[in-house]
Amino acid sequence: MDARTQSALLAAIVCLALALAMLLRPGRTRLWTAFALLNFALLAYQIGDFLYGIFGTTRTWPLRVSVGAAGFIPVAVLGFIIEFQGESAGRVVGLRRFATATALATVAVAVSPLALMPAARVTASGAVFVQLTAAVSLLYARMRRAASRTERARMFYLWVGAALCVGLTFGELLIRLAGWPSPPFANVAMTIYLYFLSQTIQRHRLLDLNELLGKIVVLASVGVVLTLVYGVLVRWTGTTGLFLFNSMVASFVILILFEPLKTKVEEKVLSIFFAERFQFVQALAALRQRMAGIIDVRELAQVVLDGFYETRRVTHASIYLLADDGLGFRRLDYRGPAPTPYIDAATMRALVQSAQAGQKAQLVELVERRLAELRQLLPESETESSALSEERARLSEIGAAMAAMRAGVTIPLIASQRVVGFLCVLDDRVPEAFASDELATMLDIGEQAAITIENSRLYEKMKERDRLAALGEMAAGLAHEIRNPLGAIKGAAQYLDPAQLQGADGEILQIIVEEVNRLDGVVAQFLDYSRPFPNAASGKFQSTDLNDVLWKTMKLIESSMPPNVVLELDLTPDLPPIHADAEQIKQVFINLALNAVQAMPDGGRLGVRTRRPHAPIELGLSEHTPRYSADQIEVRFADTGAGIPEEALDRIFIPFYTTKTKGTGLGLAISQRIVKGHGGTIEVQSRVGEGTEFILRFPSASALDTAGRLGMVQTPLAVEPVAAALKKVPA
Ligand SMILES: Nc1ncnc2c1ncn2[C@@H]1O[C@H](COP(=O)(O)OP(=O)(O)OP(=O)(O)O)[C@@H](O)[C@H]1O
Ligand SMILES: [Mg+2]
Repeated sequence: MDARTQSALLAAIVCLALALAMLLRPGRTRLWTAFALLNFALLAYQIGDFLYGIFGTTRTWPLRVSVGAAGFIPVAVLGFIIEFQGESAGRVVGLRRFATATALATVAVAVSPLALMPAARVTASGAVFVQLTAAVSLLYARMRRAASRTERARMFYLWVGAALCVGLTFGELLIRLAGWPSPPFANVAMTIYLYFLSQTIQRHRLLDLNELLGKIVVLASVGVVLTLVYGVLVRWTGTTGLFLFNSMVASFVILILFEPLKTKVEEKVLSIFFAERFQFVQALAALRQRMAGIIDVRELAQVVLDGFYETRRVTHASIYLLADDGLGFRRLDYRGPAPTPYIDAATMRALVQSAQAGQKAQLVELVERRLAELRQLLPESETESSALSEERARLSEIGAAMAAMRAGVTIPLIASQRVVGFLCVLDDRVPEAFASDELATMLDIGEQAAITIENSRLYEKMKERDRLAALGEMAAGLAHEIRNPLGAIKGAAQYLDPAQLQGADGEILQIIVEEVNRLDGVVAQFLDYSRPFPNAASGKFQSTDLNDVLWKTMKLIESSMPPNVVLELDLTPDLPPIHADAEQIKQVFINLALNAVQAMPDGGRLGVRTRRPHAPIELGLSEHTPRYSADQIEVRFADTGAGIPEEALDRIFIPFYTTKTKGTGLGLAISQRIVKGHGGTIEVQSRVGEGTEFILRFPSASALDTAGRLGMVQTPLAVEPVAAALKKVPA
């Protein structure tokens, strides 16, 4: 058997393996099927060629098989190119028709006596080569059209490989025609090229040359090592004559060795030839270990971003987390130039949906390439055209979101089947900066980060629950221990009847009654705080006009305000309704207004404003995506009072924190819980001596609806333990 015949067998085996690998993989696409068909056509041709090499001219059927199969190669190649480039129009389709006709003609030649005439065979081969050359020229044209320099470079490999395969095969055929022994190069080149193609289409991206070389080196090294093992074993045991049995033993040894050997060889090849990539992957693996002991989300963000940044392989890195109100994503931390601090649900919709559909990461180059492809596609029908424009809109949305986050790669952080955030990295010095194995390691990091985020959330929730449970117990005890004696004291004081007593005694008794009332009020308010507030699930929420509630509340308060405080109302008309319990919201407004008045004993201004924040999102948005942050309604209470010192800012929402002699310190705590129960947020900005501003944001009813459909709304904290504890107390 000559080298060429043997190489035909090798090529046939590889074709079969690749075809089966494509067909057996789950989630097979049309492209994979087309590739499998191409491999089957080549397989048939190589088998015919191999058998021809074995039998020579003693049998005619191997010749017929290879002639017939050769006729199908151009059809299969064109079918593959059509799927690969997504082209279904013009020249390609015409060429395919011509190829189909040639395939049929070649089959006719193969089964007829013509197959034995060299002239007919040469004509058939000529037709096949003309078409393969046309197919190669399609790849060339595609390369010329490539949108980016890198894409062009990669199409170049693809084109050169194809041209080389066709050229070598043609050359060998000529050598064979001349009657010389032909070399095995064409088949070896084709085998490598097919492997390259299979890698390219499975990864949905063209490979870097060094990535491909790496793969080939790994595969070749593993092959060499295994052949050595196999050879030694078979040789050593082969003398017994039980050749088959011994081969089986050798194969078992190889099967057992294969995985660990592959990993080791891969590692070695990577560290020798691709030191940079090797170090990156190692650094990320070390990072994963460091992440293991972290529970705090901020610390996690720091460690992860530093980990990425210190590799010097990224110029930007950031982490975004789902905002408390669930209406968008807030930047948690970043390295490199600052990306947008907030990005809303509408802008993130496509990205979130793709993550929920199982897309593990988005690469900006893939989005861009697909967009460029879509722009060139000419829809054939109405439905196709709408499907195309839908996909285009979806991809532009993803591109816009990635641009705003300055991400080359976004990795969704998924916890409890919900997208809770995104890890974004970018290296803006080189396009398509990360190789597949690097991306795989990044995905692992993302997965682990998501677990930490989820754990941390659960931990916080548990802490809060414990706190509330303790509070509930305390409330129950307090109510019991204080209210009963208070009732007795008040009863006794009233029994003495202050009105009947003379002088100071009456006054003192009156004070006792008043203070008892006040204490009773404090206890009642505390009980109120410990009770779970109704939330959206309780069915008490209705479509509510915030302006209306605000107007009525402020009218109510205005009459009791000191004359030196000026109330300025600035209500933006036609605000969308929110989903709320108007009574509770009113309580919040009263608390805030009273605090403001109490902070301005010497008078001042209290400005109350409503508006719809239009925070434009920076950077590259398309015309189709909304330019504003999620639909929210903002209410601001700004006073010109004493202000709050910075160290107290963290404490004002804690129950019982008060600086007032007659305060309970519950006003803001209650207000915060009510606002959170409405899916909103409350923030404070203050400067000592200048004033304080409380900013409330509520999601509009329609925004909640959209976020709900996207699965992005967070459920407010459960407060069951308190309710349970309170059941023991007579209200
Ligand atoms: N507008 C404001 N200006 C300055 N300080 C404020 C303002 N609002 C709240 N504070 C500070 O926050 C503390 C807590 O406020 P909170 O409303 O929770 O309780 P309180 O007003 O002290 O008591 P209560 O509301 O029961 O009368 C206040 O004691 C005050 O120090
Ligand atoms: Mg108050």
